[in-house]
Amino acid sequence: MVETGVKELRLPEEADTVEFGRRLGALLRAGDLVLLSGPLGAGKTAMTRGIAEGLGVAGRVSSPTFVIAREHRAGPRGVALVHVDAYRLGGHLDELDDLDLDTELMDAAVVVEWGEGVAERLSEDHLLVRLTRLDDDVRVAELHPQGTWTTRQLP
Ligand SMILES: Nc1ncnc2c1ncn2[C@@H]1O[C@H](COP(=O)(O)OP(=O)(O)OP(=O)(O)O)[C@@H](O)[C@H]1O
Ligand SMILES: [Mg+2]
Repeated sequence: MVETGVKELRLPEEADTVEFGRRLGALLRAGDLVLLSGPLGAGKTAMTRGIAEGLGVAGRVSSPTFVIAREHRAGPRGVALVHVDAYRLGGHLDELDDLDLDTELMDAAVVVEWGEGVAERLSEDHLLVRLTRLDDDVRVAELHPQGTWTTRQLP
């Protein structure tokens, strides 16, 4: 896999992470795959909340504790959001296949928390966002565009 153009953003507060997600969500189209990585509490769900706002989808985004994937109905933009938490898959990739995300990828944007190393197989074409925690509040987001994402507008 060839990596081109890594972009880094500093996110001093949770609101910045949400705002970044909002900008990313506004750029997403049906069929897009976004993988979020980073340790516990890095802000993956916070960012997904912003993505949902940017997409204008229905329903509140929360950590999908009891479900592995949650679908948020499309809003006026006509793009739904499938929010997956791969943490609970514990490396059971067959369960990921059971979710039929290939089908979802036709008409929704799919965001996978803990997706790195797991969900790339869904599509070579994806945006990987790696979150790191500098201190209690400050986060850094590293953008790793893959496939057509290397030529697309980034947030
Ligand atoms: N700059 C920041 N960006 C995002 N969250 C922040 C930031 N600063 C502090 N926080 C706090 O960090 C926590 C991030 O939680 P969040 O659930 O989004 O993380 P997560 O990566 O989804 O965790 P998990 O791995 O458990 O799913 C929240 O409590 C939030 O208030
Ligand atoms: Mg989370």
